[in-house]
Amino acid sequence: MEVLILPDAEAVAEAAADRIAKLVAGKPDAVLGVATGSSPLLAYAALARRVRTGTLNLSRIQAFALDEYVGLSPGHPQSYAATLRRDFAEPLGLEPHQVAVPDGNAADPAWACAAFERALRDAGGVDLQLLGIGANGHVGFNEPTSSLTSRTRLKTLATQTREDNARFFTDSQQVPFHCLTQGLGTILDARSLMLVAQGAGKAQAVAAAVEGPLTAMVPASILQLHPHTTILLDEAASSRLTLSAYYRHTAANRPGVATDVGLPDVQAAG
Ligand code: F6R
Repeated sequence: MEVLILPDAEAVAEAAADRIAKLVAGKPDAVLGVATGSSPLLAYAALARRVRTGTLNLSRIQAFALDEYVGLSPGHPQSYAATLRRDFAEPLGLEPHQVAVPDGNAADPAWACAAFERALRDAGGVDLQLLGIGANGHVGFNEPTSSLTSRTRLKTLATQTREDNARFFTDSQQVPFHCLTQGLGTILDARSLMLVAQGAGKAQAVAAAVEGPLTAMVPASILQLHPHTTILLDEAASSRLTLSAYYRHTAANRPGVATDVGLPDVQAAG
């Protein structure tokens, strides 16, 4: 696991954009897993700047969302389909067909989840999965006690998640109770994982995920199972880590060899 502690949220965004740009330079038809919420927004803005200036071409990538609310139409401004269109696809110049989102309006959610898993497989799997982390340690909408081997499925949102996400809705009662989310097993299938977190509100969850035990109570602790995981943190999000001196030391003393699939800048393998 590579843990990078960066001065601020903008540096986190640039580091995330660097890694995505490097992946796409080597593999123009890369498959990206994309997150919604606040955490990746600055990274998407950094990528959009590179697309605008012509230093990055994303015209052949394919993107897959992590999750979608159940019961919001794709046209609802807070659906993840609409959010990704607004914050990711349009600024990055992507065509709608390049971004796949689980169908949270399907009459048969189990069928929609299976179709999403099939689409991921047909695309050849995710090269790089970008993740945020919930204050309760969730990734995707895999809430505490999610199966560590789960696949895309219907989940009930935790009360804390509904409260945290109420800021995106005019009225907290409008936050859906259910979602379709990639499972933890689905996320682990990605060839590399990159988690971004900013702010003191994430510090406890980050510390539990990176340094705590592997446990379904902290779903993000599954990142410990993946051999190609990068964690990009600002100072505040790193503030509860006990080994931050080690992470800073390894970042400053890179081995200078390519050690990772698609992410050649890592500190060391594993
Ligand atoms: C979003 C997602 C969630 C968020 C997490 C953090 O697609 O899957 O896991 O990444 O809830 O949300 P923010 O970034 O809004 O703090």
